[in-house]
Amino acid sequence: MTEKEKREVVETTEAQIAVHWQEEGYVNPSGKFVAQANMTDDTIYERFSLDNFPNCFKEYADLLDWYEYWHTTLDTSDAPCWKWFAGGKINASYNCIDRHLAKNKNKTAIHFVPELESEKVEHVTYQELFVRVNEFAALLRDFAGLKRGDRVTLHLPMTAELPITMLACARLGVIHSEVFGGFSGNACADRIVDSQSRVLITMDAYYRGGKLIDHKEKADTAVGKAEEDGQKVDKVLVWQRYPGKYSADTPMVEGRDYFVNDLLKDYYGVRVEPERMNAEDPLFLMYTSGTTGKPKGCQHSTGGYLAYVTGTSKYVQDIHPEDVYWCMADIGWITGHSYIVYGPLALCASSVIYEGIPTYPDPGRCWRIAQDLDINIFHTAPTAIRALRKVGPDEPAKYNYHFKHMTTVGEPIEPEVWKWYYEVVGKKEAIIVDTWWQTETGGFLCSTLPAITPMKPGSAGPGMPGIHPVILDDDGNPIPTGSGKAGNICIQNPWPGGFQTIWGDRDRFVRQYYERYCKDPKSKDWRDWPYLAGDAAVQAEDGYYRILGRIDDVINVSGHRLGTKEIESAALVVPEVVEAAVVPVKHDIKGIEPDLYVSLKPGVEGTEELAQKVSQTIVSEIGAIARPRKVWIVPDMPKTRSGKIMRRVLGAISNNADVGDVMTLANPEIVEAITKMVQEK
Ligand code: PRX
Repeated sequence: MTEKEKREVVETTEAQIAVHWQEEGYVNPSGKFVAQANMTDDTIYERFSLDNFPNCFKEYADLLDWYEYWHTTLDTSDAPCWKWFAGGKINASYNCIDRHLAKNKNKTAIHFVPELESEKVEHVTYQELFVRVNEFAALLRDFAGLKRGDRVTLHLPMTAELPITMLACARLGVIHSEVFGGFSGNACADRIVDSQSRVLITMDAYYRGGKLIDHKEKADTAVGKAEEDGQKVDKVLVWQRYPGKYSADTPMVEGRDYFVNDLLKDYYGVRVEPERMNAEDPLFLMYTSGTTGKPKGCQHSTGGYLAYVTGTSKYVQDIHPEDVYWCMADIGWITGHSYIVYGPLALCASSVIYEGIPTYPDPGRCWRIAQDLDINIFHTAPTAIRALRKVGPDEPAKYNYHFKHMTTVGEPIEPEVWKWYYEVVGKKEAIIVDTWWQTETGGFLCSTLPAITPMKPGSAGPGMPGIHPVILDDDGNPIPTGSGKAGNICIQNPWPGGFQTIWGDRDRFVRQYYERYCKDPKSKDWRDWPYLAGDAAVQAEDGYYRILGRIDDVINVSGHRLGTKEIESAALVVPEVVEAAVVPVKHDIKGIEPDLYVSLKPGVEGTEELAQKVSQTIVSEIGAIARPRKVWIVPDMPKTRSGKIMRRVLGAISNNADVGDVMTLANPEIVEAITKMVQEK
């Protein structure tokens, strides 16, 4: 039996902690893809082995232009706050713009696609990006008084002005903190206060679902609340969605609010020399929620971060300068920072930014954008794939686009959904990478390398080159590969993309990510500091990792740990089901029982028989232990604005508990409908 055949027959075995998602077979990339891929040399894993750590990452850093080369690849003196490429001097804005001008100034850097199809797509060339970033950087410096090391909060929607603002900040060494545009003014205020920003950059309005939404009103709330909480914002810079026209109803506040488009006239033609930043100077903060209520600001570095996202964009996203690349995430999340802005632009790609909802005004929109711009690399999340499948399972076939490469990120993808993505969206031509990583990690941790390691539906793949994961049990013992047991996935070594600390809260950083498995809190040796990712995972014999979800998403039914994703995946095997969410319900004897919420394909009736069928399928796919207490057929799931299903809310409903504040959800009204349904039974 060849090595490959051996790998193909591997199945997870029964174990103390059973994980029941069946291992799928491999899917290989086409010869056509491999022939053009950026990385086909499989010695890369050897070059990035632990024996060659940390110097292996020079390969990524060398993709960038440095003012001064570093003297120390990894400085561990302040463990676990790692410093990469210490002594190096670099500027991110220079690397994403200036260095491309000599050969590519006329190439599109950003295609901005407005939500309204009646509006023209805006194609921003590298030369235009250079001009706009310089002029805005001059404004930030001379009008707003911002300088190296200051923090500034951005609350911008998905338009070209968002990367322009980020790159202008980066040019000056100002640390940007972009808050997802869909977040409320209050959420924005918390981030202004935590980062001590005295300037807020926003936009008057943007289109979503066919409506021009007043966004400026959130700035007023944010500034008011921040001031109550002790942080005064003295300038609000307002980009106009339609330059020269104010599209919000909220009045401008004299002496505080300024239209960027008016001010820019004073900076016509000004050029700003990029700041020579230390590699370890912070580039940006990205707030994310943790186990406690308060969001934490993940602080990302300049040199290490940029090197890591550039390397991974090149070898995992397979971006070539001639590609048209569309990542559908919002730039307000880490995916957008790393894989819409910094990584692709550092590689001189054309990166697409779409303003609105992928299914507006109809389920074909997304594929029309792909067809019109001749996009060949597509990047999205399972939640979007499920939504696209739900509203228009046959739409992709109607359009003449051809992807060579597709990405899934953000949650485990059920093999059923993976197959639709592969067969229908990718037309069996595109490879898929399932990239596992986090806000904290800056870039990919596990993924296949598309021309080297074959795909396996439902598995993220092996650790990335230079990323050495290990699955630890609760006592810190490594769980052997292929044992079928799940545990806590950790990364044994630091890597350049990893966040440096939580802004202003080093103790929390150490406590949350390192304390649990740290071998010696005084140690300066990186080997003593495994990074705890907070996800449960299982590793198959071939080395591929299957991520089961957050540690707190794993439920313990009668002492058996089950990934909620496993049950959801089983439910999705029923063809009528398009979305499934499992929540734990307290049970006197079993401890916990799973409760299952499902939504159905359009036009399918939610009968008792169908609920029975779903329940029965779970029993037959997994075992009686996973039988849900009840299958609730709901018209839609409560979702965050970024499209994640809010299992916490469903869990509260199932447990007759307080659902808490649901007003920040995309569809708060559904909560009441579901509560009524569940509580009437
Ligand atoms: O649970 C993992 C899940 O998303 C979490 C990180 O979320 P966030 O910081 O919002 O970043 C999302 C984009 C990187 C992880 O702890 N996750 C992310 N990617 C995957 C995933 N779960 C399974 N498979 C993935 N590919």
